[in-house]
Amino acid sequence: MKFFIDTADVPTIRELAATGLVDGVTTNPSLVAKTGRKFIDVVAEICAVVKGPVSAEVAALDHETMLAEGRRLARIAPNVVVKVPLTPDGLKTCKALSVAGTAVNVTLCFSAAQAILAAKAGAAYVSPFVGRLDDVGSDGMQLIADICEIYDQYPDFATEVLVASVRHPIHVVQAAKLGADVATLPPAVLKQMFAHPLTDKGLAAFVADWKSTGQSILEG
Ligand code: E4P
Repeated sequence: MKFFIDTADVPTIRELAATGLVDGVTTNPSLVAKTGRKFIDVVAEICAVVKGPVSAEVAALDHETMLAEGRRLARIAPNVVVKVPLTPDGLKTCKALSVAGTAVNVTLCFSAAQAILAAKAGAAYVSPFVGRLDDVGSDGMQLIADICEIYDQYPDFATEVLVASVRHPIHVVQAAKLGADVATLPPAVLKQMFAHPLTDKGLAAFVADWKSTGQSILEG
């Protein structure tokens, strides 16, 4: 399972990339707005920090402008993945960019039917939003199960399931059990995944007991 980081904040990406656990990055217009910085500069910096796929989203709603924006974003760096919304114009753009060799992430997926369309449009990734579905009383993880089951029936579908709108480590565990290809994690969720009170308690005891031996591994 690949881990992408769901943020446009470069210092945070740099910090988390140093763990060696980050395979890529996803951004969206809301995350870019939070940085207060120029979008193109932010994407270029992220692409220099993380060599894996970096999703950068188009802003337009019509096919022609989306295509032009997608081509512009793809020129920033070879690891840019152009993100388009799951609309008729978005999927038309997905098809055109994919045929031309640019990887596309189809975002704002909320149904299995939409995920089938994204695969047929040649998307490299489809992003079902589990947290936002949970928020409105639907079962976000059931959507991941449905998409994985459907894609498994069609080996010619090359689209990877990228679990988005992740809210907590349980989402990540559930997505992993379903065999989802990627989870994009808010930085806080990746940090939460490290944590367990028994790890802290056990480590404190080991540190105290080791100290009582008076030994040093490096000087022994
Ligand atoms: C990533 O590609 C999505 O844009 C992101 O995961 C959405 O997360 P949110 O629902 O927490 O805004």
